[in-house]
Amino acid sequence: MKVIITKDDHEMSVKAAEMIVEQVKQYPQSLLALSTGSTPIGTYQELVKLYQANQVDFSKAKCLNMDEYLGLNHQHLQGYYYFMNKHLYQYVNFQENNLFGPDAMNENIEESAREFDERIQQEGGIDLILLGIGRDGHIAFNMPDEKLQLKTHAQKLSDATIQDNARFFNSIEEVPTHAITIGINQLFNSKKVIMIANGENKSEIIRELLKLDTISTKLPASLLKIHPDFTLIIDQEAAKLL
Ligand code: GLP
Repeated sequence: MKVIITKDDHEMSVKAAEMIVEQVKQYPQSLLALSTGSTPIGTYQELVKLYQANQVDFSKAKCLNMDEYLGLNHQHLQGYYYFMNKHLYQYVNFQENNLFGPDAMNENIEESAREFDERIQQEGGIDLILLGIGRDGHIAFNMPDEKLQLKTHAQKLSDATIQDNARFFNSIEEVPTHAITIGINQLFNSKKVIMIANGENKSEIIRELLKLDTISTKLPASLLKIHPDFTLIIDQEAAKLL
């Protein structure tokens, strides 16, 4: 595990964007898995800048959404597909059929999960994953628990996560209580994993993540500590308790 502490959010974003661009330059057909949330927005802005400066070409690359709230379609303003389109897809040159995610509208959610895992397999697995981290240590929507699911699955969201994510909705009642999320297996099998964290509200979980000499399903992000190519990029605020 490699830890990079940057002076601020901007430097964190630049560093993460550079690593993604490096991946696509080296392997133009890479399958990327890019996270939602407030943390990666700066990274996507940097990616757009680099694309506009002809530093990267996404025409052969593929990109997936790792999770989605159940019942939200691609047009929903709080949906994760909409988020990626708003912050990245509309500005760069991914081919539309190279963008995918779990179908959160399918009433048969097991089928949707199976199809998503199959598509990842067909594409040859994930090459680079960019993750954020929840304040409770969740990754994508794999929440702290006694056991974690290996495959893509439906997930009940914790009250804390619903509260954290309510800031994106008009009211807390509008936040979906369930999501579909990629499982631990696909996350762990990604060839490269980058996690970014910024701001003081992530400092407690970053301290916990780095101080532990153990891994635990109660802190899903800790599993990545044994991934062979895991880079954690955090700004000074998130690093302030180290
Ligand atoms: C959600 C997403 C995660 C994300 C997390 C943290 O729960 N499913 O992928 O990492 O929020 O979001 P933020 O970056 O806004 O703190």
